[in-house]
Amino acid sequence: MSKNEFFKSRMEQSYVKSHIVKEYFHVWAKILGSPSLGQSKLRYIDLFCGPGRYEEDDSASTPLLVLDNIIRDPKLCGRVDVHFNDENTDFITQLKNEIETSTSYKDILSCISFSNFSVENIAAPQATGRYGYPPTLLFMDPWGYKGVNTALFKYLNYFGSEVIVFFNYNRVNMALSNPVMEKNMQKLFEEKRLLKLKADLGGKKPKDREIAILAAFEDVIRSKCNDPVLTMPYRFVDKDGSKTLHYLIHITTHPLGYGRMKEIMYRYANLQEDGIGTFDFHKANEKPQQMYLAFSNPLDELVGMLSTEFKGKKIKMKEIYYKHNVGKSYVEKNYKDALLKMERNGTIKVEPPIFKRRKHKGHPTMGDECIITFL
Ligand SMILES: C[S@@+](CC[C@H](N)C(=O)[O-])C[C@H]1O[C@@H](n2cnc3c(N)ncnc32)[C@H](O)[C@@H]1O
Repeated sequence: MSKNEFFKSRMEQSYVKSHIVKEYFHVWAKILGSPSLGQSKLRYIDLFCGPGRYEEDDSASTPLLVLDNIIRDPKLCGRVDVHFNDENTDFITQLKNEIETSTSYKDILSCISFSNFSVENIAAPQATGRYGYPPTLLFMDPWGYKGVNTALFKYLNYFGSEVIVFFNYNRVNMALSNPVMEKNMQKLFEEKRLLKLKADLGGKKPKDREIAILAAFEDVIRSKCNDPVLTMPYRFVDKDGSKTLHYLIHITTHPLGYGRMKEIMYRYANLQEDGIGTFDFHKANEKPQQMYLAFSNPLDELVGMLSTEFKGKKIKMKEIYYKHNVGKSYVEKNYKDALLKMERNGTIKVEPPIFKRRKHKGHPTMGDECIITFL
């Protein structure tokens, strides 16, 4: 697809991407804006914002969807500083004009700023200390990989700050075998890591190649951060569902944000049997595909893991979820289903017991506060 065609009509994949970002922005802002954290300001930065609308149906895209989230929530109005950037002058002018002339955004206009730079030329964050900037959600959504300025992952070092980045796997994968693109790949992966990656890729099958490339990119991100990071990838595949095109990757240093984004991505993902999410998107009428990495475990595998890892322990349902879910495909609902299954099998004891717990549509529930004893 040519660059000019991108904003002509909205593809389903763009819809999903925008809605994941919009929904997560709201969740993130609610958490970081809660009075107990004492943050008077939050920031949303979109460095590849585009014009904000698709031509054919005039539908709003991510920048306007995020602003709509802010104006609908009185607790966020005036508290979130928003910055939009795009290297394309026409796009940023169109977005700026729409925002400045619409009555919808008049109350938050003083909180919105615009710039027209190429992201390669944007400096890494400079402020010192964990509180050097207000909590920031940074969205980087370039067409290819050239605009991904990896120094900007340093935003993750500031309190409450997180990144959502679009990783064009297909283009990177091709560029890695093309000597003409060597400089670009060096910029993205850095020299030493690129050498190692290329050596690792030799003779690998496509799926293993994908895992290695994604892992190297995650390693670039880690190298910019002082704290351990949690990454949640959501995969977009081609029309017949056989080939990975790109990933939307959420990066945070906090398990709460990680878990909340996973729940949102789950709602946009295909499901396998037992309600396990695939965390990928392709046309809804096609059957779910093989999942990425460890993301292919049915519910019984979760039951098995919990039995082994928590044997002899007494622990709350919500703690089990927080301790165990990172890096796995399971969302909270899957943990509850697994524990209900284990309760039926008699391999755990639950307090309160089943007859004292709330029912949902006639079925027993497993609340966050339930205390589980693994036998
Ligand atoms: C995929 S589109 C962004 C779509 C937008 N996030 C949305 O959801 O509507 C990529 C945008 O990045 C801009 N862009 C590409 N390379 C860039 C760079 N190096 N610096 C800044 N903007 C760039 C393009 O002009 C285009 O508007």
